[in-house]
Amino acid sequence: MSPAGMDAAQNGSSNSIFEIEDSDFSRLLDRPRPLNIERNRSFEERSFSELSNALSPPHHFYRNTENSSRIMDHIEHSYTPSIRSGIHTPRSSYNGFEPHPMVGDAWEALRRSMVFFRGEPVGTIAALDNSAEELNYDQVFVRDFVPSALAFLMNGEPEIVKNFLLKTLRLQSWEKKVDQFKLGEGVMPASFKVIHDPVRNFETIIADFGESAIGRVAPVDSGESAIGRVAPVDSGFWWIILLRAYTKSTGDSSLAEKPECQKGIRLILNLCLSEGFDTFPTLLCADGCSMIDRRMGVYGYPIEIQALFFMALRCALLLLREEDGECKDCVERIRKRLHALSFHMRSYFWLDLKQLNDIYRFKTEEYSHTAVNKFNVMPDSLPEWVFDFMPCRGGYFIGNVSPAKMDFRWFCLGNCVAILSSLATPEQSSAIMDLIESRWDELVGEMPLKICYPAIEGHEWRIVTGCDPKNTRWSYHNGGSWPVLLWLLTAACIKTGRPQIARRAIDLAESRLVKDGWPEYYDGKLGRYIGKQSRKFQTWSIAGYLVAKMLLEDPSHMGMIALEDDRQMKSVIKRSASWTC
Ligand code: GLC
Repeated sequence: MSPAGMDAAQNGSSNSIFEIEDSDFSRLLDRPRPLNIERNRSFEERSFSELSNALSPPHHFYRNTENSSRIMDHIEHSYTPSIRSGIHTPRSSYNGFEPHPMVGDAWEALRRSMVFFRGEPVGTIAALDNSAEELNYDQVFVRDFVPSALAFLMNGEPEIVKNFLLKTLRLQSWEKKVDQFKLGEGVMPASFKVIHDPVRNFETIIADFGESAIGRVAPVDSGESAIGRVAPVDSGFWWIILLRAYTKSTGDSSLAEKPECQKGIRLILNLCLSEGFDTFPTLLCADGCSMIDRRMGVYGYPIEIQALFFMALRCALLLLREEDGECKDCVERIRKRLHALSFHMRSYFWLDLKQLNDIYRFKTEEYSHTAVNKFNVMPDSLPEWVFDFMPCRGGYFIGNVSPAKMDFRWFCLGNCVAILSSLATPEQSSAIMDLIESRWDELVGEMPLKICYPAIEGHEWRIVTGCDPKNTRWSYHNGGSWPVLLWLLTAACIKTGRPQIARRAIDLAESRLVKDGWPEYYDGKLGRYIGKQSRKFQTWSIAGYLVAKMLLEDPSHMGMIALEDDRQMKSVIKRSASWTC
């Protein structure tokens, strides 16, 4: 899609709910979601009239303004319980939104992926299609559950999310060992699995902290060694982000206030806030510790982890009870880190045409505190493609920054989370969206959305991936297209006031996802081909689609996954200030 085409689409007629101005968005974020906690009865058992009451938004929220009443109208329609079917297939119809037939299919598939532990739903398995050799897809992955959790929260079903949060919290306190080495207390698992013992008719949970599920796969209970052995850094961050989403969505702060949850947050953050040899506020990590869980040259300070770290820190500030003596110190450390981290990221990870030109002209070997080229980056290390990729208008957070090393690749998750968490300033957020619009073919193509751009190939691929046959160019983590990323794009679009872009992306997904059996990823420069080893009925492809649809239908859901710009962090810091100050 050409930029002109996108412009036309943007200027064309739009649904009224899309015309959200900044001020409207802030209100949406503040809106308390309806309190809807019932412990013992499922939705099936409840009458529609109860649902109606439980799901109606508080009327005081949208008072007076024209926009308010528009949104109010919309909310009342979308929460009309009669639109829900008895099998939990959700509402999906109001002015202009005909329920797409896929939505019902998606809900059905999502429900089939639910995992129960002693009768209670505790998560969703990674993929329904487990016919292939790789066995780890019948596990509940923490990161994979996030879009499922959001879908359930948006549909007024918080129970599964609460159970998940509590179960994974228990796993955090396990003594975790990889070989003889004991992992930190706060590490959250990459995934867990419910094991049923038919003889004793007893269920147990087995967790994986990176020792078996990441990299290569060994059956969890086989004892066979695997080659992954990287603890997931993102799991703990997603856990905190999800706890805040649950709290925001339900209005129930009692879960987050439980002493064990408060301790869980502190343990996760202690691992990241402890002092060491590091001189940067960014978090140092190993390759394969996040969504890209294989060797892909994302070690050091990858944008995905930095953006999630920032978001988790901000969520933690909202959740920790400062009046608790134990939390006070943690809160103070979080504040300081947020300040330094936002400055560092906004200054050194940011790339736009001007910055690119500056780097191109950088002098090297500058030794003073006033150095412009603070990381001593060699202009010759700039890859050819970045000059063509960079539009006149637009910019993005690059993949990684460390001394004498910048990874200029564009990564989807990190940039979207930077927008949602307000790590990106409003100007940077707009610029990220400008870039997505101008580079639509490269980043969205025929199936949203590229995990990163561009792919690495040839000698570089051999060195960086270690000749990984799953990560060949334009496949899987190496420039493959992942439908799950649709929810993040949609959320970023809404936050920046450009929902039309999300609509276009969703249209593309709708033209293929069901037909293709909800693949995990697509291959090719345009994302035209179902991925070589792509799993079908991948749960987060399904849930990501549902979340994207629900966000567009009811942007007030944004409150659970987006944070407003924090005035405190807006204090003016000049680029030339040294990060050591
Ligand atoms: C792959 C993905 C990882 C995901 C897992 C389960 O390993 O890279 O991000 O969590 O599959 O779907």
